[in-house]
Parts: sequence; structure tokens; C-alpha cells
Amino acid sequence: MSKRRFLVTAALPYSNGRLHVGHIAGAYLPADIYVRYLRSNGDDVRFICGSDDNGVAIEISARLEKTTPAELSTRYNKKQYADFEGLGIHFDIYGGTHQPEYVETHNRLSQEFFKANHNNGHFVKKSSEQLYDAQADQFLPDRYVKGTCYHTLEDGTPCGNPEALGDQCEQCGNGIDPLQLINPVSTITGTTPEQRTTTHWYLQLSKFQGMLADWFSLVSLDWRSTVINFAMGAIKKGLPERAMTRDLQWGVPVPLDDPDAQGKVLYVWFDAPIGYVSFTATLCQQLDGDWQKYRDWWQNPDCKIVHFIGEDNTVFHALIWPAMLLGTQYSSKEIAARGSTYTAPKERGYYQLPTNVVANAFLNIRTRDQKEEKISKSRKNAIWIEDYLKTFDPDPLRYYLTINAPESQRTAWNIDDFIERNNAELIATLGNFVNRWQKIVTDDFERKVPSADCADQLEADLLAKLKALPKSVGDDIEAMRFKSALGRIMDGFRECNRYIDTREPWKTRKSDGPRCAATIHTCIQAVRTLGTLLEPFLPFAAEKIRQSLNVPTDQWIWSKATDELPIGHALGPIPDILFRKIDP
Ligand code: MF3
Ligand code: ZN
Repeated sequence: MSKRRFLVTAALPYSNGRLHVGHIAGAYLPADIYVRYLRSNGDDVRFICGSDDNGVAIEISARLEKTTPAELSTRYNKKQYADFEGLGIHFDIYGGTHQPEYVETHNRLSQEFFKANHNNGHFVKKSSEQLYDAQADQFLPDRYVKGTCYHTLEDGTPCGNPEALGDQCEQCGNGIDPLQLINPVSTITGTTPEQRTTTHWYLQLSKFQGMLADWFSLVSLDWRSTVINFAMGAIKKGLPERAMTRDLQWGVPVPLDDPDAQGKVLYVWFDAPIGYVSFTATLCQQLDGDWQKYRDWWQNPDCKIVHFIGEDNTVFHALIWPAMLLGTQYSSKEIAARGSTYTAPKERGYYQLPTNVVANAFLNIRTRDQKEEKISKSRKNAIWIEDYLKTFDPDPLRYYLTINAPESQRTAWNIDDFIERNNAELIATLGNFVNRWQKIVTDDFERKVPSADCADQLEADLLAKLKALPKSVGDDIEAMRFKSALGRIMDGFRECNRYIDTREPWKTRKSDGPRCAATIHTCIQAVRTLGTLLEPFLPFAAEKIRQSLNVPTDQWIWSKATDELPIGHALGPIPDILFRKIDP
């Protein structure tokens, strides 16, 4: 297969907190597995991530921690990076939309995007009333207003929930217009907000609907149905216009020569996905000395762009971001003239739409008394990566979050299940198979691959099953079915354990030397295959296996997974313990 070109991104985390298991299960681990697989497969890949530093959430967190957004975002950017590294999640670049080395390129590209969409006629400028916190000196985003719900229930009584937030009332479930809240209070300062008029630029998303729907019909077989159904459902309801500017200090300045744009920044969800592009540009600057080379990835019909996200990011990646990309290429007149036809640009120089947007559902948490709840900072129920890594190794987490991944629906983290799977699957199935013939190959065969003269049908059957695995596991990964892919590898280990149980080399080493040799020979070939396929999922264990087999890294790749180690090949040292037992 010829080398393919991929640009893979994982959602940019807000740099105002640490990462927990839900973040990792949602986007970062599947993205890392996919990238590791592509690399093993020989494809040309860039893996892009970094922090989402702009926007009101960062401003508010900075105020709470009595620091500046710049200091706060840099501090968490570094901590999140350490969390990723600790789990073996390595990006080619880890940027940050407001980090000193990135902000200039990021602002330039974000402003170019805004101006291109503006010049193409996709914004409408409008004034409206909004709540303003005079003490904090800022307009209040919806979630930072609280008040009494004004809705009436079905029986005619008022809802009256005094804790309704500016976007939704948790008691009656209705959406909230913050201007209608009774006794509104700013959650920033606790003061009563006033109403002020402000002006913003609204992206006319409805104009893109026809093209987007056509595009979804082209990609629908390759995408997860959860994402396609969500996106098509939203289009059927009609895409509302969205304000893409905000009254804030912290962010990318609105690049318009208009007095109404003074003191405003781009909406964080406008500039954040552009971070993928601007970090690519900074990476190209570092690698090729030319930031403009980002076009070879983003504006190249031969490059596949894949975004990994959590489910709450779907509207932004599947609808708004593609609209922004199309909006740089087409004017609103051209879109009207094209009607509902989407054709991917065939020549370079235009942004390509993503090849895939891969969203996982949320990972909930199941407590020891079996209550399932959302992971949340305020509930204090999160398992933080920082804490996890103080006690455990990365691979068991990678294993659990993949085999229990919320790919098509929500799943739950459960500590007892995590421990059980570590002990029963990683140790008793995987680690055990790698270990149970090590003593024999050391004592009886000087750690060299013994001959297989005596192999018969059982050996042939096992090796035939293993020979089919790189293709079936690879097909699963290409189709973003990571859970199924890892399940196939684990089934391979189960099969191997049954095989060695049947052959009992610990007995035949005394009674039937050639039979024992053929058994050990076969075990070595099996671990060579399974170990190579494990690399994307459990890179730390796979590396120990590789060293113990003494296979050079350039041979430790997908296409060579079933290459047999020749008779007489000298193995490396007995592998270090692969997985440690966890005491409940
Ligand atoms: N910061 C967002 C979140 O954590 C994700 C941003 S993804 C990007 O939900 F597209 F904006 F980069
Ligand atoms: Zn209510």
C-alpha cells in the first residue's frame, strides 16, 4: 500500500483544569491509538493538539484563582501536557491558542478566517440587549446568570426554581432567556446585572445547510451513525445563526475596521478549531522553516483530516467548523447558485472538509454503591490522571478505557471493574501467556527460537488464525472500532492460552523434546504477532515484549506482524513484569 497522508487532531482542552478519565476516553486515547496504528502501518501522519486558552471560561477561572488568564492557561497547558505524556499520548505538537509561542500565528490565521467569511458575506451585524455586570465590568454569558425561573408548568403553577441558570432550568427542563429571569444575579460578583445594548456578528449557518447535507450523504457510510444522525437532525430543524464575537478582553481581537468591533474578541468556538490549523502552521515552521506549509495538510486533496472529539463538541466540528471552512471558499452568492451540491476541491489551495469526525459519548462514573453519575469537578467524583499515575501504570488505564470505550453509547468507569479487568485480563490472559514459556525457552533453548520440525495441525491452525489478525484488527481501527479491535487481540491471547494448555510444554520438555521445541517456537511467533498489534493500544507493554523478542523497531510494524522469527534467532532478556496485580 502506498503511503497515505493524515492530519489527526484531538479536541483542544480548555486550559483551566486538569484532565480526568472522561477526557481521555472521549477523544485523546482513541486519537492516539489511531495515530500509532497509522504510523505502524507506514502512513505519513501529523498529530495535533494543544490548549483552548481563549474565552470566558478561562477568564472566570483566572478571576476565581486570583490570577491572570495568561498565567492560568500557561500553568494548565503544561500540566495537561504532562498528563498526556504520562499516559503515552504523544502529539507532534502541543500548542495553545494563547500561549506565547503560538498566539501570533493563531491570531493571524483566526483573523484571516474571520475576514474571509466576512468578505464572503456570511455575517450579519446585529444589536441586542444583554445582561451586564457593572462591578465585573463585563457582559454576562448565559451560564453566569442565575435567577428564578419564569416558566409555567403544565398544571398552570409557576416553576419558581430560584436557581435557574441563564441557559436552562434544571427543575422544569425549559430553555431560559436570561433577560426574562426573575431577580437575576451575576454568578461572578453576586450583584444584580443591568441591561445594555451590544453589537455582534452572526454567522448565517442556514445558508450552508444544503451543501452540508449533501456532504453528509457522501460520507455517511464512513462516519459513526451517532454523529451523522446528530448532524442531519440539526439540519432538519434548521441551523440558527450564531454570534461569533463576544464582549471580552481575552481572546482574538475582531479584525474589523468598525467602531462597533472595538474591545471585542472572536467567540472562543470560532477561534478554537482554527487552533488545529495554526498549530500545524507552527509545526511546519519548526520542521520546514515555513509556516505556510500548513496548506500541504489542510488544503491538499490528498490529505485526510480526522478530528477526535467528545460528544458535546459534535455541533462545532460537524456543522459550524465545516461551514466556516466552506465560508472561506464560497461567497453567499456562489452558495446560493450552487444549491445543494457539495464537491470537494480537487486542486490545492482550498480548505478540505474533514474526512471524519469521530465522537465518543461521555464516560460516566459508577460509584462503589453502583450509582451511575456524570463525572464532574463539583461532584468531586472524577478520577484525575495526575492522581491515577501516582499509583498505577498507564497501560491498564488505556486498556480499560478502550475495552470499555463509550463508542456508540455512554459507558461508566467502575473501579472494581477496572481492577478485575487488570487482574483477570491483562495479567491472567495477556501477561500470563507471554510469561508461561519464558523459563523453558531460557533453560532448555538458550533463549533462541527452537525448531518447529514437529509442528502439526494444531500449530498450523493457531498460526493461520493469527495471520488473519493484522487485517481484521486493522480494518476495525480504520473504521474507528477500537473496542472491537482490542477485543480481537485479546481473543488471540485466549486462543494462545488454550493452545499452550493443550500442548503442556512444561511436561513435554521432559518427555518429548521436539514437541516441546515446536510448542515454544509457536508461542514465540504468536507473541511476535500479538505484541506488534498491541503497540497502538498498550505501548508500554508492547515495548517490553519487543525487547524480549529482540525485534528491531523498524521491523515492529503492522506489515511485518506475522513475519516469523527464524529458527536460531536470539531473543532478548526475559521481559520485565508487564502488569502489576492490583489489590482491591
Ligand atoms: N475546549 C473544548 C472543550 O473542551 C474543545 C475545543 S475543540 C476545538 O470542550 F475545536 F475547539 F479545538
Ligand atoms: Zn423552571
